[in-house]
Amino acid sequence: MEPGKRTGPEPPRGRGIARCRGDAAPRHVALIMDGNGRWAIRRGLPRIEGHRRGADRIREVLETLSGLGVEYVTVYAFSTENWGRPKDEVDGLMDIFYSAVEEQTGDLHQRNVRVIHLGRTANLRPGLRRAVENAQQLTAGNTGVTLHVAFDYGGRDEILRAVRRIIRDGVDPEDLDEATFRRYLYTAHCPDPDLIIRTGGEQRISNFLLWQSAYSEYYHTPTLWPDLRPAELAQVLAAYRQRQRRYGALAGA
Ligand code: IPE
Ligand code: IPE
Ligand code: MG
Repeated sequence: MEPGKRTGPEPPRGRGIARCRGDAAPRHVALIMDGNGRWAIRRGLPRIEGHRRGADRIREVLETLSGLGVEYVTVYAFSTENWGRPKDEVDGLMDIFYSAVEEQTGDLHQRNVRVIHLGRTANLRPGLRRAVENAQQLTAGNTGVTLHVAFDYGGRDEILRAVRRIIRDGVDPEDLDEATFRRYLYTAHCPDPDLIIRTGGEQRISNFLLWQSAYSEYYHTPTLWPDLRPAELAQVLAAYRQRQRRYGALAGA
């Protein structure tokens, strides 16, 4: 180890530990959009209706968060484990994702949003893969909020993919530090999430952003994803600002 070389997580830019309380908005908010199925079942509807309604909520959530000063918004839409659901539901989710990309990309582009997919593309249908690539290309130069859509995303899969690439690139094990490793992740271009919000009441991470969430603040709400409204999001961000992030150090040190 070189003398003086940092081994801990990168502190957030421009923020000292003692100044966390009352600090500005989180730069990066990630959302585990859970509870669509239950939302539908409670209304006597098929689960897929919940997914449809859930996809429609993303626009307002993005607008609300960017209005509150957030620069990066990541939504978890389909995990590498969600392939294990019944075929009808998986097919329905693929259709909804395709329609959402086709119908919303123009509007997102108009609003200067940069869209980036996080996850595997190899298992997506060719039409869906092309639609995702087109959306990324079209919006690549946009300078407003960045929307990451994690679809066929798994944190363990992402870490393995990074390790494979690191080996392929012939990185010397002695040179492999945290800064190098993070450059191999889907999120190499952005800060780690400051805040992860999970709707639907569960208190687990479900394979989401495993590396990046090492020091994220976590917030869970029983609200089902299709019921999440701007007022609750604003409350969550206000609660975040009251938290004290220490990164393993001591408050006020
Ligand atoms: C989240 O909603 C969306 C996906 C995982 C694709 P769920 O479908 O998990 O909804 P619940 O948890 O069954 O209510
Ligand atoms: C997490 O929800 C994945 C997404 C929201 C895409 P799940 O419903 O798949 O998670 P578990 O099964 O409750 O852990
Ligand atoms: Mg769920």
